Amino acid sequence: MSKTKVRIQSAVTVCALVCLCLVLVMVFRVEPPSVDTHAEEQAFNPDQFIDPETCGGCHDEIMAQWENSMHHLSHQDPVYTRVAKFYLQGLTEAGHIQEAESCVKCHTPVGYVSGFPKKVSDEFAHVGEIPAQGIQCDYCHVAVDINKMYNNGLVLSPGQGEDDPGIKYGPFDDTEPEFHDAAYSKLHTDSKICGTCHNVKHVAFGTDLETTYTEWEKGPYNSPDPEKHISCQGCHMYQRPGVPATASTPRPENPGSATPDAKQRPHIFTHYFVGANSGLPQMFSDQEKADMAVARLQHAAHIYLEVEKENAVRVVVANTGAGHSLPTGLTDMRQMWLELTLADSDGNIVFQTGAPDENHVLPEDTVIFNTVFGDGNGNPVINIAKAKEILSDTRIPVGESASHLFELAPVPQIGYTLTARLLYRSMPQKILNQLPGEPLGPLPVVEMAAVSKIF
Ligand code: HEC
Ligand code: HEC
Ligand code: HEC
Ligand code: HEC
Ligand code: HEC
Repeated sequence: MSKTKVRIQSAVTVCALVCLCLVLVMVFRVEPPSVDTHAEEQAFNPDQFIDPETCGGCHDEIMAQWENSMHHLSHQDPVYTRVAKFYLQGLTEAGHIQEAESCVKCHTPVGYVSGFPKKVSDEFAHVGEIPAQGIQCDYCHVAVDINKMYNNGLVLSPGQGEDDPGIKYGPFDDTEPEFHDAAYSKLHTDSKICGTCHNVKHVAFGTDLETTYTEWEKGPYNSPDPEKHISCQGCHMYQRPGVPATASTPRPENPGSATPDAKQRPHIFTHYFVGANSGLPQMFSDQEKADMAVARLQHAAHIYLEVEKENAVRVVVANTGAGHSLPTGLTDMRQMWLELTLADSDGNIVFQTGAPDENHVLPEDTVIFNTVFGDGNGNPVINIAKAKEILSDTRIPVGESASHLFELAPVPQIGYTLTARLLYRSMPQKILNQLPGEPLGPLPVVEMAAVSKIF
């Protein structure tokens, strides 16, 4: 064999190997392993789902509570739609794109199961009137089972539209309404119906992006003792104006009826679905829900000051009111932080940390309780589509506390006042500034708790 022939042969082998590798890489890039399997896809006709307006014709109070809730707004929420567009920009890796396209499964669930939209890049202007109303009556109340405890595993059994509404599942086992059939559903009384959406995993990498259900599941309120057990509904579907219904406040029943003519019941579950977000209801001129979110936040935590040394104080934050970590949900975005201010006897500020600047941006060294995602190589990422790992996690679990030691300069003199405040806002201004479209913000900053000490 001549030398050229050997060279040609090895060149061919190298080429073949390179091609094989390329093909393998392409196969894996097109179909990266997914935590959501196709076997659980459900397909319905859009006409099977009934407009919430129709349900509201009888369930008027429940309808008024649900209107402008984050569930109602889940598809239209301008913060969500812009963040979703922002995440999709400039992605090239298949696993990243797969995650960035997946949001509609929870945010537009009726559309997702009835054909449109299937992904975030589908033209939202073409979404039907019913799916555009987000997480709605005829979605939750036709759920019959759960196939996984994350990424919305609800299994549905909708009716055939208004002419044949089918069975609506709920907490009563003794009712036969005229318009629709009704049946008792244990699922609806269980935290699991909430948890399957309130646990979010990266569809390609499996990273835990939101873990509200898991935090609750591991906590003391998931108690086998019915006296101590508090479900998601036990706080969030007891809240109404004037009744924050947290772990540190009473959660009295809400007697009434499910329609103006239906029988009186000891408790009608409220449908405001208020969490911590007061900015979004304000964008839709719903001051009542904004106030309820503030009330919830103001009964979520306690804060203490301990003077450790002449020039050092410890600030302790206890999660006393939430059924899950503090904060919870989108904790890579949510900002719960400590602001510390030392003022002299004339009220002049001599030391401060954690105060937003004139552009509403927090200083880099702010003590903040959150999660930070990484790209798999230890570099922080803000786009969850790229989240392969959790780099840090300073959320405060249920019933636990976190503390931080602050050094004070100057040393407090007699008559000085030290104030520590626990503050919350639902999104950093730095991220809002990068979103496409009209500028958003500043979002409201809510004082959750505060404590002062006079030296
Ligand atoms: C996110 C899911 C969800 C949405 C959206 C939702 N519900 Fe409910 N609803 C529930 C759950 C869960 C219960 C029962 C709670 C329990 O037993 O712990 C309930 C209870 C009810 C009941 C029984 C009476 C009561 O309130 O206790 C009626 C009637 C009802 N819902 C109607 C509606 C209507 C009408 C809408 C739309 C305006 C709606 N629901 C939207 C989850 C939902
Ligand atoms: C024509 C009036 C009317 C309309 C329209 C209506 N409902 Fe009802 N619904 C009732 C009555 C009456 C009850 C029984 C209330 C009771 O017994 O306390 C009821 C009960 C329920 C229950 C409780 C079932 C149980 O067994 O726990 C749910 C859930 C429910 N409705 C959901 C809906 C949904 C979703 C829609 C819209 C698709 C809707 N309803 C439309 C009248 C209506
Ligand atoms: C189909 C998925 C789904 C189900 C089921 C669901 N949620 Fe939600 N929930 C969401 C989404 C998505 C949002 C945020 C919507 C948005 O971006 O505006 C949300 C928002 C909320 C908020 C407001 C959070 C805030 O920041 O203020 C609360 C509270 C809440 N849900 C409680 C519940 C409870 C309680 C249940 C069970 C009865 C439940 N959810 C069931 C998907 C779901
Ligand atoms: C013991 C009462 C209690 C229980 C039980 C409870 N929560 Fe909450 N929840 C709160 C309080 C208080 C807040 C406000 C503080 C915060 O944001 O964590 C809150 C806030 C939230 C938020 C908004 C978080 C944010 O900062 O964006 C969501 C979403 C939520 N809850 C969902 C749930 C779900 C889902 C369950 C069940 C798995 C649940 N909650 C169980 C009390 C409760
Ligand atoms: C498995 C269900 C699920 C999926 C999939 C999902 N989300 Fe959400 N999303 C939620 C829940 C639950 C909340 C409420 C949690 C909270 O308030 O902290 C939420 C809240 C949000 C919010 C906060 C809205 C506000 O007004 O503050 C944004 C932004 C958001 N999601 C963006 C996305 C994007 C972008 C995607 C896709 C890359 C996505 N979500 C996919 C369940 C989901």
